[in-house]
Amino acid sequence: MNGERTLMSKSSSLPLVISPLFPSPDARFLLQNGSLFCEDIDLSTLAAEYGTPLYVYSAGTILDHYKRLDAALGEIDHEVAYAVKANSNLSVLRLLATHGAGFDIVSGGELFRVIKAGGDPAHCTFAGVGKTRDEIIYALEKGIYSFNVESEEELRYLNEVAGELGMIAPAAVRVNPNVDAKTHKYISTGKSENKFGVDFGAILDLYERASKELKNIKLRGLQMHIGSQLTSISPFIEAVEKVIPLVTELKQRHGIEFWSIGGGIGIVYQESLASGAIDWWQNQPEDERPLTIERYGKELVPRLKDLGLKILLEPGRYVVGNAGVLLTKCLYEKKSSAKTFKIVDAGMNDLIRPALYEGHHEIVPLVEPKSRERFKVDVVGPICESGDFFCQDRELPDFQPGDHVALMSAGAYGFVMASNYNSRPLPAEILVEGATATVVRKRQTLEDLVEGEL
Ligand code: LLP
Repeated sequence: MNGERTLMSKSSSLPLVISPLFPSPDARFLLQNGSLFCEDIDLSTLAAEYGTPLYVYSAGTILDHYKRLDAALGEIDHEVAYAVKANSNLSVLRLLATHGAGFDIVSGGELFRVIKAGGDPAHCTFAGVGKTRDEIIYALEKGIYSFNVESEEELRYLNEVAGELGMIAPAAVRVNPNVDAKTHKYISTGKSENKFGVDFGAILDLYERASKELKNIKLRGLQMHIGSQLTSISPFIEAVEKVIPLVTELKQRHGIEFWSIGGGIGIVYQESLASGAIDWWQNQPEDERPLTIERYGKELVPRLKDLGLKILLEPGRYVVGNAGVLLTKCLYEKKSSAKTFKIVDAGMNDLIRPALYEGHHEIVPLVEPKSRERFKVDVVGPICESGDFFCQDRELPDFQPGDHVALMSAGAYGFVMASNYNSRPLPAEILVEGATATVVRKRQTLEDLVEGEL
């Protein structure tokens, strides 16, 4: 498989937990002398200095992913519109903006962040089924590239608001191709029963009507997005092949200039720790290996390159997912008759993916334990909910109260989905670039918690 390498502990020959192995050989979380590093920084020193729970991101990994995706699409006219919802920290956005990324936003708040981070609204697309009047006005005034609308009603409302302002709103309709993305039901969006987009069969008529009746709309493109965390190429191919005749016709009849094929590229969360895992993958038929961005490009570029359209991508998780970890400290070990619980200081309010989507995050002690023995444990948070766990009945290396562990691959849909539930202050965020670690968001204080309340 392209460019993959075995990640080894620099101190020993043990092929230890390094996330990610796939499909991101360039991630910069490595064991060095038995300690887990992010780029050139020992994560234990960050935990000691800034406390936990603590999000840490690798700038190098984010950029590698962005550049690999850009390169995979290099042959065609394209733009990577990073899906801000995955991780909207200003410093992450600034990093991507400086390297030429566009942005896919879903709220006025995200547009505000992009602008604050130095992003260009002219390279922003605005998705979402429920844009408000204020958000529409804000985005029109800032001159975004396209409103990706999700219903005829929304398109008509956009026309009305643009008319009031004496403006023309650039728009694309989101087509729902009715393709099964084969992902968790909460993050599948491209089936007819989902709330997203307009039925495939209704698109042409809608464009016809809109071009005749909606004088304040410029139909600029077509958009689709079938779901998130897709780990196989086939749903992407199926959706693209299904929609090609439609975009071709829209281009002929309405002169559309772009097609956004959405985001959704999955990452590998779960690693086999067995040595030789990489060889095993390499010997699998291509269809059964984890999806790589190179494969994504190889399959899609030939299908897209002769359409004469600008192709937009809206990746979120792929860019940042494997580029972040959540550090947490073990507070207690509690044994019941049935189980051993490791109680840590991060909770579902800090990282909700396991509770909400049964998401898997590898759990890695920041200091490699002396023994390779594993113990079956539940790692749980302090929140008063049974769903507040990071793993259940998982065989993990030993760690004890006072030790720190990393919840791996937490860079996407981690901090952004965190809440103050149980009146817990939001964690701090750190961005690592080589040997420099910068606090890019301060930990909330107790005073911050009650700010704005009477
Ligand atoms: N474009 C649209 C229209 C979207 O709705 C999404 C994600 C994306 C792009 C980016 O998708 P990605 O490349 O990140 O898969 N919180 C969930 C994921 C929700 C995804 C929502 N939409 C999770 O933690 O798995």
